Amino acid sequence: MTMLQIVRVLVASLIIASAVGDEIKNVLLLLADDAGLEMGAYLNKFSQTSNLDALARRGLLFNNAFTSVSSCSPSRAQLLTGQASHSNGMYGLHHSVHNFNVLPSIQSLPNVLRENSNGRILSGIIGKKHVGTADHFRFDFEETEERHPINQIGRNITNIKLYTREFLRQAKAQAKPFFLMIGFHDPHRCGHITPQYGEFCERWGSGEEGMGTIPDWKPIYYDWRNLDIPAYLPVTDVVRKELAAQYMTISRLDQGVGLVLKELETLGFANNTLVMYTSDNGPPFPAARTNLYERGIKSPFILASPNAEDRHHETTGAMVSLLDVYATILDAFHLSTNNSAFSSKSLMPLLRKEPRPQDDDAVYGSHSYHEITMDYPMRMIRTRQYKLIHNLNYWSYFPIDQDFYTSPTFQQILNATLHRDNLPWYRSLQSYYERPEWELYNIKSDSMERHNLAEQPEYKNVLKVLKQRLHEWQASTNDPWLCAPHAVLQAQGIYKENPVCLTLGHESL
Ligand SMILES: *[C@@H]1O[C@H](CO)[C@@H](O)[C@H](O)[C@H]1NC(C)=O
Ligand SMILES: *[C@@H]1O[C@H](CO)[C@@H](O)[C@H](O)[C@H]1NC(C)=O
Ligand SMILES: *[C@@H]1O[C@H](CO)[C@@H](O)[C@H](O)[C@H]1NC(C)=O
Ligand SMILES: *[C@@H]1O[C@H](CO)[C@@H](O)[C@H](O)[C@H]1NC(C)=O
Repeated sequence: MTMLQIVRVLVASLIIASAVGDEIKNVLLLLADDAGLEMGAYLNKFSQTSNLDALARRGLLFNNAFTSVSSCSPSRAQLLTGQASHSNGMYGLHHSVHNFNVLPSIQSLPNVLRENSNGRILSGIIGKKHVGTADHFRFDFEETEERHPINQIGRNITNIKLYTREFLRQAKAQAKPFFLMIGFHDPHRCGHITPQYGEFCERWGSGEEGMGTIPDWKPIYYDWRNLDIPAYLPVTDVVRKELAAQYMTISRLDQGVGLVLKELETLGFANNTLVMYTSDNGPPFPAARTNLYERGIKSPFILASPNAEDRHHETTGAMVSLLDVYATILDAFHLSTNNSAFSSKSLMPLLRKEPRPQDDDAVYGSHSYHEITMDYPMRMIRTRQYKLIHNLNYWSYFPIDQDFYTSPTFQQILNATLHRDNLPWYRSLQSYYERPEWELYNIKSDSMERHNLAEQPEYKNVLKVLKQRLHEWQASTNDPWLCAPHAVLQAQGIYKENPVCLTLGHESL
């Protein structure tokens, strides 16, 4: 080669290197508390979310993202461990009498990042944490409900902004890449604890008399008379007023997102930080949170990369699970995960190329508790067309959690049921409480999950295949409930090499 040729090759390889060059150094995970798809980017006409919509425009917006569990602590544990709640041991809520923690052997993201990078990566959490033990989830920087009143650290967006600034300054001063997680407490309910602030704490910090102010928040008030009601909720003014309150707090969360992104920019991290937005589980309404029905598991999800060559202002139809967040974050830092067939999978390749949809694309669900009294384990597989839910305690009534119980929406449903009043709702409270062992829905034609096909002869084969796939997932992820409810799992002693489900004889009683 002549000198000129060598220079040309060098220049060409430099151009290639910079074209595929990876500028991501940091990861910011923005997490909402009980938010569904109530945002402009997902075509909600009412809820004003200009900052999230702008983030969606400069990122990839997911139309098929699902949480594997519809409860706060288990969902956060799945994000931070990449494992289903039945594998990581966070079977229900972490706080107070519920007292769930991950199993002793479990590794979590902040610890893995610190260890695998020899302390090079700085981790931080601001806002709601709600997982434990503290040793299992030790962030380098923690400003959470363990140290602050939850509203001050989770809903006061001025405080969130100030702590974000402090964390980013530390990362800058130490010249370290960072993983920062912001756990907003909006739009969670609070009516069962502090009703004086409104059902969603929407009045708190609004500047109204006795409510205090949040200096950076410009409250957006919604006229409930204008609002459309999503198809899964009763069509009543009680529900409209609930939505107005919920949207007000979603707009507060949205302004918080704007403040955090502004800090990122001001401190010079906008061009090397991967930003993710999602929510732990669906909204606190019937058939949503604590359910594996669509509104309980469908998650808002944005992945916004600073790399010019990555996909921006596009949507993806890839079927993804919030279990994948763990591997995605490790991948963004070029750290490997210990892959197995059903483990967390990095979403980073989606930033370059949309995969071809496959008929057997699937996500899985595993929900066991929420509150300690809510013993209603469910397992699920959802493909592009079907969803199969296995209700393991199907002979008991579906349980209701404390903050949803006191909500005006549930009180109206209950009262109407007790008084045998007409309620314009797509289902009855009785059908909500009483669920069969197996629920099979054709989601493509029945997104409301009204017509259970599990007993229909023409779906026999679909049912069989989905049951088998679900069982395989449970087996390969070490689900202690693998054989429930009609058999007992034996996996020790003589069964150590070949675990078996031994029948309880229910079928012959
Ligand atoms: C929110 O935080 C700011 C800054 O710490 C404080 O001035 C304000 O009073 C707080 N708002 C409320 C409602 O407590
Ligand atoms: C990113 O932004 C910072 C500060 O705004 C600037 O110094 C740096 O050169 C930028 N890096 C790239 C790769 O554009
Ligand atoms: C992968 O497994 C090895 C050995 O068990 C462990 O040291 C390492 O931390 C694991 N890596 C991740 C990212 O979990
Ligand atoms: C419950 O229903 C009764 C009878 O329809 C009605 O009079 C009452 O106002 C309702 N109470 C609530 C809390 O909705």
